[in-house]
Amino acid sequence: MSARPGGELFDLSGRVAVVTGGGRGIGRAISEALARYGATVVAGGRRPEPLAETVAAIREAGGEAWSHPLDVTEEASVLALRDAVLERHGRIDILINNAGIDPHYAPLEKTSFEEWRKILDVNLSGVFRCCRHLGAAMLERGGGAIVNVSSIAGRVAFRRQVPYCASKGGVEMLTRALALDWADRGVRVNAVAYAFILTDLTRGITGHEHLSKRLLARTPMGRFGRVEETVGAVVFLAAEGASSYVTGTTVMVDGGWTAA
Ligand SMILES: NC(=O)c1ccc[n+]([C@@H]2O[C@H](COP(=O)([O-])OP(=O)(O)OC[C@H]3O[C@@H](n4cnc5c(N)ncnc54)[C@H](OP(=O)(O)O)[C@@H]3O)[C@@H](O)[C@H]2O)c1
Repeated sequence: MSARPGGELFDLSGRVAVVTGGGRGIGRAISEALARYGATVVAGGRRPEPLAETVAAIREAGGEAWSHPLDVTEEASVLALRDAVLERHGRIDILINNAGIDPHYAPLEKTSFEEWRKILDVNLSGVFRCCRHLGAAMLERGGGAIVNVSSIAGRVAFRRQVPYCASKGGVEMLTRALALDWADRGVRVNAVAYAFILTDLTRGITGHEHLSKRLLARTPMGRFGRVEETVGAVVFLAAEGASSYVTGTTVMVDGGWTAA
């Protein structure tokens, strides 16, 4: 029997997990959770300070982690991270595609192609790049789990959010199509989709008096999610012991949003 919390079902000992955008918000919470269940975590992101904080928090709690610079919009950066992980560990077992941005609230007629491209490049093409290069390493070893971070905005339309909604809708379909391609080759591909979670990304919305009231009225549970509530579904999908027959699906972590 494993001494880890969750026992054998969720035991990630000996697994190597890469978390994109692992320095802040949901990515940090996911990194810490995967380490708690035994994984060695490699946190990637553009800025070194938040990554260093994630690594320090994991080590302080007795876990194993290190970080590597990563810009998911740069193919060379994705390849450099992949090579560094393979050189150090010889394997990648888990990939969490969490890096994402949502900087633009405007109707389409006021959205430039450059603004569209920027969001799609991180949120959707970034997932493609990481799946393509880190997933290939999983395929070579014949096993792995990919979890893509999506949003209710991939299913429910939000005003003035065309690029973000399109990017997350794309992530959901990329997840399903890729799951099909790799289903009989040992690599599972799933997604989690969150409603409004209290992080830097949503501060402008959740801190806005009228907007937040409107959103809470629309949320069956009547509250925003906390980062610690985002990790359970990811650990489940990452853990072979718990989800070995699960691929091509999205777990909604949304306080009931998409049920209503
Ligand atoms: N918060 C919510 O309510 C919510 C709801 C649904 C879905 N999500 C999704 O959850 C994910 C995390 O969101 P969050 O709320 O935790 O946001 P956040 O606090 O703003 O963190 C975003 C993370 O992504 C990283 N990142 C951004 N651009 C990157 C790039 N080009 N390359 C590598 N890393 C990059 C950032 O690190 P650096 O800036 O240092 O690179 C940061 O670690 C996103 O995919 C988001 O769309 C969030």
